[in-house]
Amino acid sequence: MILSLSKQIPSASRKIKLQWFSVTTAPYSHGHEIKLTTPMPEVASFKGVTSYTDLYNYSITNSNHFWETHAKSRLKWFEPFHTTSECDMSVGKAKWFLGGKLNVSVNCVDRHAQTNPDKIALIWEKDELGQNEFVTYQQLLEMVCRLANSLVDSGVRKGDRVAIYMPVSPIAVAAMLACARIGAVHSVVFAGFSADALAQRIKDAGAETIITTDQAVRGGKVIELKNIVNAALVQCPSVKRVFLSHRLGKSYARTDKDIDLDEAMSKADKYCEPVSMDSEDLLFMLYTSGSTGKPKGIVHTQAGYLLYAMMTQKYVFDYRDGDIYACVADVGWITGHSYVVYGPLGNGATSVLFESVPTYPDPGRYWNMVERLRINQFYGAPTAIRLLLRYGDSYVKKYDLSTLRVLGSVGEPINHEAWEWYHNVVGNGKCDVVDTWWQTETGGIAITPRPSSLGDVIVPSAPMRPFFGIQPALVGEDGKELVGGDSDGACCLKTPWPGMARTIYGDHERFLDTYYRPYPGYYFSGDGARKIENEFFQITGRMDDVLNISGHRLGTAEIEDILDEHVDVAEAAVVGVPHHIKGEEAFAFVSLKEGVSKQKVNLVGELKSDVRQKVAAFAVPGQILISDALPKTRSGKIMRRILRKLAAGEVNDLGDTSTLADPTVVERLAAERLKMK
Ligand code: PRX
Repeated sequence: MILSLSKQIPSASRKIKLQWFSVTTAPYSHGHEIKLTTPMPEVASFKGVTSYTDLYNYSITNSNHFWETHAKSRLKWFEPFHTTSECDMSVGKAKWFLGGKLNVSVNCVDRHAQTNPDKIALIWEKDELGQNEFVTYQQLLEMVCRLANSLVDSGVRKGDRVAIYMPVSPIAVAAMLACARIGAVHSVVFAGFSADALAQRIKDAGAETIITTDQAVRGGKVIELKNIVNAALVQCPSVKRVFLSHRLGKSYARTDKDIDLDEAMSKADKYCEPVSMDSEDLLFMLYTSGSTGKPKGIVHTQAGYLLYAMMTQKYVFDYRDGDIYACVADVGWITGHSYVVYGPLGNGATSVLFESVPTYPDPGRYWNMVERLRINQFYGAPTAIRLLLRYGDSYVKKYDLSTLRVLGSVGEPINHEAWEWYHNVVGNGKCDVVDTWWQTETGGIAITPRPSSLGDVIVPSAPMRPFFGIQPALVGEDGKELVGGDSDGACCLKTPWPGMARTIYGDHERFLDTYYRPYPGYYFSGDGARKIENEFFQITGRMDDVLNISGHRLGTAEIEDILDEHVDVAEAAVVGVPHHIKGEEAFAFVSLKEGVSKQKVNLVGELKSDVRQKVAAFAVPGQILISDALPKTRSGKIMRRILRKLAAGEVNDLGDTSTLADPTVVERLAAERLKMK
């Protein structure tokens, strides 16, 4: 829930004058007085920029020069680009660094292996407490090359799609980078998705290759990944090969498509020539949910995505050389792509890979890790913070967290209580908390406070301000930008940025319909937002039928499709309800076919199990209300507004029900709802 500003900002800090930059000694060059905690050498070539505000404005008004300067200095090119950008928001067109040739794996690994071979690239915090594996840049290069050669030896070529279904591990990172090295397009599927969900994504991508692991282990629980892959394979006859790495080494069912990855890598050459890729060739696709049942494969390309991930990782987290940086997201989500893999490795950082869960073996797991690994930046999700704060402060206080400088939050709104706990208890009041708003589609963080020790105020629970090059706009229903006031509007972005998604794989029309046609001239995020104190952005939640359960994005239609398939179900409708830990939870209304008894034994259990089996555990509705009918308008449209109220238990505040075809349906549903907890 979003709180109003007055509830959010403690009165003491509201009185502090906002000072976004102040005079300081010239840390950059030519007497520029720009307070960025992290130096930005490129500033020297931005004329007239003498303050942080100038710099942001420059990134908007001289967008091409801003990005081209960074692209030249931060990326290693095989051939320089000839045109910085060709973008047109009115038709959803985005191309960056045209004509340039590069290889993302060279940028993320080779160049650091050359200059700093023994620097630790990855620290794998395994599920088992205290077990770490350290991978240097030199070792990572060899892993990536051997894996890339294994793919090539088995026939994988530039442009082929490769599905990766693996737990968080160095080998998963190497698999992503190996694809990048040979120009294959990876599609990482979160290893918590079911066989059906995996099969759907493999088919949509037309992937002929899967890279997976025998088992995954999370919080001590074993997940039989290979067996799930086998089940998916039944639906995907076009898959030709399944590379298998080993985590626990327990037995699994073999198929004739299996290739042992360890064996293949040990036989493969230890160097693989990187393929020269065009800036706009596909780097990866990542499936995310929309308002229909079919997940969409969001496409990101090479140079723009990488540059944007690197820049945001560096400046949002104040990353400095030598820091130990930990983003605890799974590589199966965009946060894992941009802030576990591409951003930090592009910057030559040491990136922690967190395989476990926040409560294993106890709720001190994160903080135990921070102390042991001396972590400087910690990036996690509000759902975990909400869970941990319930266990009290002692699990935090017993560890030395003095290395922490920046605490990040991502995936959903961070409520005030969680923000304060994160700031005061975890950060001991000394770290900047950055609430980062972005999406799979934006490629990297778009709106976030600036971490700084500048005496600035960070407004609790709000992402506040745009990153360089990002120009958010609140747009009203009439398609006009709302200016001034504390008004709510559609959260849109009105200028292009290098990390923006290029298309939905195989469905460019859906891409345009979803993001560019609702508000012509703008990219529409699907979220609502408002400006507080007419200055800072605050996200008000999704405007479509997309849920955010523990930071996992899920379309209500995806759950409804599964419930509808049950033999006893006539119709299903799913809405979101607030949940104290998960942020939001699915609540399902299900009407039964004629003749099926509402008392049917274990129907609710069967429906929940179907969702678990066919989508994922996190998608399982918390509550299912079985009824004989759903409330509909006379034209047959399900009235979700009323279902949302019912789900929230607001049975006496259902609003106007006069347009319903049969108002008695609502009365019966309300009576049933009152009987539930
Ligand atoms: O609704 C917003 C919410 O998560 C959505 C994007 O989900 P996904 O593509 O899975 O990416 C998650 C990680 C970036 C957004 O449309 N969201 C993300 N971050 C925030 C947020 N809502 C509020 N505040 C945030 N900081």
